[in-house]
Amino acid sequence: MLLIASANGAVGMAAGWAILQADGTALDAVEAATRKVEDNPKDHSVGYGGYPNLLGEVELDASIMEGATLRAGAVGALRGFRHPISVARQVLEQLPHVLLVGEGAARFATELGMQPENLLTPPAEQAWRAGLAGRLPEEFRDAQGQIMERMLARATRLATDPERVAGTVNFIAQDAAGHIASAVSTSGWAWKYPGRLGDSPIIGAGNYADDRYGAAACTGWGELAIRASTARSVVMYLQHGYALEDACRAAFRDLGALGLPPEHCLMSLIALDRHGQHCAVSTAPGRTYVYQAQGMASHAELPRLVAEV
Ligand code: GLY
Repeated sequence: MLLIASANGAVGMAAGWAILQADGTALDAVEAATRKVEDNPKDHSVGYGGYPNLLGEVELDASIMEGATLRAGAVGALRGFRHPISVARQVLEQLPHVLLVGEGAARFATELGMQPENLLTPPAEQAWRAGLAGRLPEEFRDAQGQIMERMLARATRLATDPERVAGTVNFIAQDAAGHIASAVSTSGWAWKYPGRLGDSPIIGAGNYADDRYGAAACTGWGELAIRASTARSVVMYLQHGYALEDACRAAFRDLGALGLPPEHCLMSLIALDRHGQHCAVSTAPGRTYVYQAQGMASHAELPRLVAEV
């Protein structure tokens, strides 16, 4: 039995672990753990309190995957509901689809009986206003001070994410029956173009789990993980017999083919193999992740390996 998470997942570890300890499933554990992070207003990269898009709207992405069956559910650009992971879980459970976005995802959340709410907290709104005020020249705005629609694409290039797309939460669990599940949730790149999806809701990019080999989940610059299919690559390298750390390093080396200067490649992931070995890797030094295994009273923090692209 094992639960691992990106460091900001610490607030959800107890909820996930309680489910595993009670012989619950890995799928239930990662959903419950993720919900705690989505509730945390201090985490500006996930759920309630997440940083908004260019227009000040919080748009959430999430995905969940069951390694025993390869079933997956995901939502993208969901507005007005704080638990995208639970909407994603119900996509997995109830629909013949994998991914719902935008108004369709919100419609489904409403149908599930979830309550819509304003997710933009005062600190997140303040950071958004301050971030744009310092960056965008006057000609981007109309008389009311709002960004003009025709300037959005250019504004996306000028506005800077205050957390440099480093947020997002990842959980991977292995339950007492040996089954693996993974979950990812994010508010994405702050000040993003409205409708932008990152890697988190894209199965294979930011999230992948397969009981036969293992699982991986990403944080960092989602566009890179989409282009290189990073989470699935880790699992595929495991399938081809790589040891866990080597599989992660190989997936990071694949990012090198994207032709970006290494200083622009910000990528991190957590990974688990079917034997319960775990590790986490980042292009940035000093990053950590958290884990809890049988016999531990609470979770512990470990350093991530630094990998080159
Ligand atoms: N990795 C999260 C994102 O790029 O949205």
